[in-house]
Amino acid sequence: MESRREMRVPGEGTILAVETSCDETSAAVLTGERELRGHVIFSQDAHRLYGGVVPEIASRAHLRALDDVVAEALREAGVTLADIDLFAATAGPGLIGALLVGLTWTKSAAWARDRPVIGIHHMEGHLFAAELEDAGAAPPFVALLVSGGHTLLVHVEAWGRYRLLGRTRDDAAGEAFDKAAKILGLPYPGGPAIERAAASGDPDRHPLPRPMLAGRSPEAPAYFAFSFSGLKTALRTRIGEMGDRVPADEVPHLAASFQAAAVEVLAEKTARAVRLTGCRRVVLGGGVARNRSLQEEIRDRIGPEGRLFVPSARLATDNAAMIARAARFRMSADGAAGWDLSARADLPFPGLFS
Ligand code: KG4
Ligand code: ZN
Repeated sequence: MESRREMRVPGEGTILAVETSCDETSAAVLTGERELRGHVIFSQDAHRLYGGVVPEIASRAHLRALDDVVAEALREAGVTLADIDLFAATAGPGLIGALLVGLTWTKSAAWARDRPVIGIHHMEGHLFAAELEDAGAAPPFVALLVSGGHTLLVHVEAWGRYRLLGRTRDDAAGEAFDKAAKILGLPYPGGPAIERAAASGDPDRHPLPRPMLAGRSPEAPAYFAFSFSGLKTALRTRIGEMGDRVPADEVPHLAASFQAAAVEVLAEKTARAVRLTGCRRVVLGGGVARNRSLQEEIRDRIGPEGRLFVPSARLATDNAAMIARAARFRMSADGAAGWDLSARADLPFPGLFS
């Protein structure tokens, strides 16, 4: 048992990673640092009916899909379980039932094959996504991680050394998009729906607040912090002023106004981080990173000397490839986990300090 824990996966070893923290069932096969040989993402559709992720439905759907998703990733990669040197799974944070499906499957497979296993923090995975496609997205950089559950502004000094600059005090950025979409009668997930609707809207028609932008000094406690729940309330209030129901022809303008407010706050805080750290590289991660207007606004604000790395759509949202890449790093830094490895809904971010 000890020898297994001491094992290191050399640069060329093959990793199988599984991600099941929310509503995507995903598996990836990675050889070396960036050779993604197989990658399958199965997005659960059932939640659309409910306008949000239903944890029990998510766990059951992972259970049904996981065997096939892994088999397909292995087939794409042209390998079998016997070729896997390290088994990795997201250990948290996320929905506990959903996490347990992926982690238990992974531990069982590792046990059966007498191979090491490692648990990965989901948000650390998002930090690595851009680097899978562009080796330039390596530390030091400023990272803006914006997903359905998290909003983190981090100075990545090195892999494993993450200085926390700011986080949300209430709703996550993606959650804000999802809630705004619901208010506007748009489908789940709200981010893409808002972005589509906003394309034909006027962002200045409905002035909405830019929460937490006021503190101009880096010493101000809110300098890097985010808050999106007031923005959602402001949207609701604006709609209330127009009557009981959202007038259909105002939806694009309301969507554009909401998006402009959320994007301005995210982009400005990212630009502040670039100024304060002197770090000109910015890496985006998480589902909201797909938002074009966010990407453009950040590019504008960091100027021609800055460089923005945006993972492709597939790697921005939840996926197992980023978990495999983070596992490569964690294995070299910490070694494998013991068999007591377990999932935690509130797993602390390793290497995060303020
Ligand atoms: O990273 P992710 O796939 O899952 C979590 O870990 O939460 O992020 C999902 C979030 C959802 O809230 C979704 O509305 C948002 O990302 N999102 C977007 C866009 N595409 C996805 N938000 C804004 N604009 C988009 N184009
Ligand atoms: Zn995520």
